[in-house]
Amino acid sequence: MKIFIDSAHLDDIESALKRGFIQGITTNPSLLSKEPKGSFEGHIEKIIALIKKYRPGIHLSVEVFSRDTEEILKQAREFVRRFNYPPISIKVQIGWNELETIRQLSAAGVSVNCTACMTVSQAMLAIEAGAAYVSLFWGRIRDGGVEESAAAAREELKKKKALDAKDFDPAFVTQSVRQIVDSGESATQIIIGSIRSVADIRDAALAGAHIATVPPKFFSDMVKHFKTDQVVQQFLSDFKGWMA
Ligand code: E4P
Repeated sequence: MKIFIDSAHLDDIESALKRGFIQGITTNPSLLSKEPKGSFEGHIEKIIALIKKYRPGIHLSVEVFSRDTEEILKQAREFVRRFNYPPISIKVQIGWNELETIRQLSAAGVSVNCTACMTVSQAMLAIEAGAAYVSLFWGRIRDGGVEESAAAAREELKKKKALDAKDFDPAFVTQSVRQIVDSGESATQIIIGSIRSVADIRDAALAGAHIATVPPKFFSDMVKHFKTDQVVQQFLSDFKGWMA
């Protein structure tokens, strides 16, 4: 499974790029809103400059910020033109009208990352519409099964049998989508977003995700282990004793 960074923070992106373990960057409007106010285009260009410096050619996902079909198409085409970075993927949210934009963009050769997918059926539609990537939101899928504020919406869909308990198990959702991809003709890749812990990253890999996009705050916990520190310390002090 490949690791992407889920961030628009330039220092965090640079520090991961320097270490060579990320093969892509995903951004979204909320992540961008955490950065100092300024030009959206200028900020994406700074991210591209960092990619070109450290790891030219890796994946970059940039999300449209509209739910209007025409506006989505306009923004997507403008991102492709303005950023002029061929590996760019345009993130379009899953939705009825959005499927049409995914279809049109994919048919025109634009790589689409269909984002905010929670269920197998959403992912299936995105794959059929031509999305190059489907982003499944691991943490939010799980939250959807327990969130008090979503109880009414959840029960209504359960009553209609549009959803059942399995739809709130992110590992089940990921395994199922992977099975669908592997048994079909498409080369769609599954990106797991909405990571809430290092255990989620491991579980996403075991469930068959092609990619996990990881918030930078988890990288240090991915690399650290108290037994590693202990043994490295032991090696150093044993050697120091022998050299003395
Ligand atoms: C993925 O592409 C999204 O940027 C992201 O992972 C959303 O996750 P959140 O639930 O942390 O907002």
